[in-house]
Amino acid sequence: MQKKINHLQLLPLSKAMDLFHKFMNTVAPPTSLFLLLLFLLFKFLLSILRSFFCENVAGKVVLITGASSGIGEHLAYEYAKRGACLVLVARREKRLREVANRARAFGSPDVVVVCADVSKVDDCKRTIDEAMNHFGRLDYLVNNAGIISVCMLEDSPEITNFKPVMDINFWGSVYTTYFAAPHLRKSKGKIVVIASSAGWVPVPRMSIYNASKAALISFYETLRNEFWPDIRITIVTPGFVESEMTQGKYLTKEGVMGIDQELRDVKLLSPLNIPMQLSNLRFLFLFLFLFFWLNSFHVGGQVQVSAVPVVSADGTAKAVVDSACRGDRYLTVPWWFGVTFLWKMFSPEVLDWFLRLLYVTGPGISERDAISKKILELTGAKKFLYPASIQSPELKAD
Ligand SMILES: NC(=O)c1ccc[n+]([C@@H]2O[C@H](COP(=O)([O-])OP(=O)(O)OC[C@H]3O[C@@H](n4cnc5c(N)ncnc54)[C@H](OP(=O)(O)O)[C@@H]3O)[C@@H](O)[C@H]2O)c1
Repeated sequence: MQKKINHLQLLPLSKAMDLFHKFMNTVAPPTSLFLLLLFLLFKFLLSILRSFFCENVAGKVVLITGASSGIGEHLAYEYAKRGACLVLVARREKRLREVANRARAFGSPDVVVVCADVSKVDDCKRTIDEAMNHFGRLDYLVNNAGIISVCMLEDSPEITNFKPVMDINFWGSVYTTYFAAPHLRKSKGKIVVIASSAGWVPVPRMSIYNASKAALISFYETLRNEFWPDIRITIVTPGFVESEMTQGKYLTKEGVMGIDQELRDVKLLSPLNIPMQLSNLRFLFLFLFLFFWLNSFHVGGQVQVSAVPVVSADGTAKAVVDSACRGDRYLTVPWWFGVTFLWKMFSPEVLDWFLRLLYVTGPGISERDAISKKILELTGAKKFLYPASIQSPELKAD
């Protein structure tokens, strides 16, 4: 016969639990904070130590997706300078061959070009097979291929037009990793993932792109535990980097890739990039306050941060390869862009308000009249904020 639960008998237990939680409420936060500070100090010392024992990649085999332009192209040159063999993957064959020739001139002993669309699972399998057939091993997989869409969700005439963003940015990396994993386990290799700080900064008009990058971060954080200790993973979260993407190349709401520098200027001005010549004092004070407050967190960088907010692709590539060779788990480029994570963690409402102020226009006002773009136009700051390579609307010919 089932015993009847006597609530009076349970009372002492629930009181004990209450007491336990009260104790934990008082003790857990300060203890955790103290242990966290100790751990951060330990981590800092460890990172200094690790920088003396960087991996030598000479002769190792590095596969880079999205190597035909931008960050991927410069990653190819950076690995080439260090003597690595390369497998370069993208859809534009002529561009890939040009990159391959330059990589050889930079010092890569052997470069293979694979024309493939990473959103297609068969292409990803073929890519890894071709790399293995040629080199017989794989040491690094750099998941870099990606595209961006810029559109308010409700302005989309056909929502499925944005599917390629997820298919390329997320599934492309998942497929390639799936086929590469057994070979990377064998070589005790590494995976580098070019995610984005958009994975945590909710910039309007980039919802699908932001989500694809957040998914990537979560996916590889999980794989880090599944693959440990055979495969190490470095997750890179760049801010704005010189490339075709920052030149204004987007997936439009009609579902085609095109250059739109006007819309790029709406998006590209980040909360920290507001220039000094601002005539509107309200914004100037806001900028100064945020700039100095945010920079009070800056205690030293891993990367060269130029005065130009859109950082160079070669500087980024060097920082990424250094970081992966050190075995870092995360890298944000430029380093200071990581302060946006603090805003997100401790004050998401301020971050949201700021993003709305800059990027969202009121009813009846064109998206091309967003404050972010107006600031650029009024001040002529584009000249100083953007490298020359992304000022031209012309893409290099395929
Ligand atoms: N630039 C930034 O500010 C920034 C910031 C944060 C993160 N990122 C990330 O960095 C990565 C590289 O972008 P990028 O800025 O260097 O832009 P990019 O110059 O436009 O390069 C994108 C690369 O991805 C390749 N790609 C696109 N779709 C592909 C597909 N279906 N299959 C194979 N390759 C494909 C492109 O080659 P093909 O067109 O020849 O196929 C190109 O080589 C992306 O994942 C991007 O999200 C960029």
